[in-house]
Amino acid sequence: MSAQPATPTGPVEPLRAQSDVARRAVVTGAILLAGGTAVAGCGGSSGADAAGSSSAAPGGVIVKLADVPVGSAVSAEVSGKRVIVAQPTKGKVVAFSAVCTHQGCTVSPAGAMLNCPCHGSVFDALTGKNLSGPAPSPLPPVPVKLNAAGDGVVAG
Ligand code: FES
Repeated sequence: MSAQPATPTGPVEPLRAQSDVARRAVVTGAILLAGGTAVAGCGGSSGADAAGSSSAAPGGVIVKLADVPVGSAVSAEVSGKRVIVAQPTKGKVVAFSAVCTHQGCTVSPAGAMLNCPCHGSVFDALTGKNLSGPAPSPLPPVPVKLNAAGDGVVAG
């Protein structure tokens, strides 16, 4: 006939589970915020780079050729969609979707590589090929070419 309360382990387990859920929510939120910051940061720099060369400009210059290093890539925007524009060899331009094929985060150029901040996938910045990490496939190509003057990258 004891009137002892329930063992303390009963209520502790649900609290621990709730704590894990809350921790995941915080981590997820932090990742989303970081992604949003990266997008905003890139959007800002893209806008700064694109003075007179945004997709709204006549001729649709996505980025100036001089702003795309040979053998590397930059982030840009085409019709509101994030893209990566690369210059594999002098005067040759290619572009890829900047949306990671794993779970849709935005990849960022890092020299000749593109890094996904979410789960560590790495892509070749010059081909879009997935090199490592969980991304199951290459980044989809986006058709681009040089404008008539040869100094700007345009859709096409
Ligand atoms: S979303 Fe890019 S590696 Fe997971």
